[in-house]
Amino acid sequence: MKHAYVLATLAALNALPAAIAWGVSGHHAVGLVAEQFLSKNAQAFVSDILGESYHSSLALASTWADSVRDQPEYKWSAELHYMNTKDSPRTNSCTVELERDCPGGRCIVAAMGNYTWHLLQAAQPRAQAEEALKFLIHFLGDVGQPLHTEALALGGYQLPVICEGQVTNLHWVWDEAILDSRIVRQFHGSVRHFASWLVRDMKHGAMSRTVASWYKTPWSLQSYKEQIISDSEAQAPFYNAVYDEDTYLEWTREANAHACTTVFDYRMREELCEGRYANMAFQVIIGQIAKQGYRLAQTLNDIVDAVEPELRPRF
Ligand SMILES: *[C@@H]1O[C@H](CO)[C@@H](O)[C@H](O)[C@H]1NC(C)=O
Repeated sequence: MKHAYVLATLAALNALPAAIAWGVSGHHAVGLVAEQFLSKNAQAFVSDILGESYHSSLALASTWADSVRDQPEYKWSAELHYMNTKDSPRTNSCTVELERDCPGGRCIVAAMGNYTWHLLQAAQPRAQAEEALKFLIHFLGDVGQPLHTEALALGGYQLPVICEGQVTNLHWVWDEAILDSRIVRQFHGSVRHFASWLVRDMKHGAMSRTVASWYKTPWSLQSYKEQIISDSEAQAPFYNAVYDEDTYLEWTREANAHACTTVFDYRMREELCEGRYANMAFQVIIGQIAKQGYRLAQTLNDIVDAVEPELRPRF
């Protein structure tokens, strides 16, 4: 089963069919971008945890969380893929408030902190570390999709819109349709080509001027490091990443802001997957995938740096 899944995923990465489902291509692209910004130590850490079942690839591991969310034993994880942000994008008011939008700490911001914390725990079975990593990879992708940080019409699922002449819903247009149609038309149907093009721009092109400003170490990871430095005896230093307002909440706010500027800016019966709207949305999607890919890499680099080499998991 596992091998069949990996082979299918590998095939999908090489020649992504148009219909494949932050959808599969969005997550793969975030993973492929991140792989190009991982430190050597983080690469080793990821390989160690993911091992052969994912060819040590962030991209291949990135969609596991979607594949289990409907299984009875993982039903609890479904609500961690998004934040039900109850703001008002149609009246141009985009705000994210933890108390209002993350009741009981069950939302994507809390989940990112939670799985960062889990990954820092040196003494845990490999399967648990693998699960934490796969959740973290996935949620760092999802949080970049503006309709994963918006409650209106269930994140757009309930809004019928037109894409390539067919009626579909707005959420799907943002998760998959616009990105997949661009990948087919401009990148020979290959998510790898799309990701390489993004990485080139991030390293040498227009985006290279801003990349470094996209990430700052979460205060919680910083304090974790400081604590280790100041108290090398500490077995399990205090660590609370769950509500990292500076970092994880900031990313959520950034994605949510697109709900006010772009996502709902269409007219009745407008074609959304070609022309004006698609061009505008694709620019947002490019930026969000680049950012989340870079942030995923830097988060993992920081997690690995925060753990003393002898405390890092070894499996
Ligand atoms: C934190 O991770 C544990 C282990 O997977 C899970 O049971 C719990 O629901 C998670 N909570 C959040 C908010 O992510």
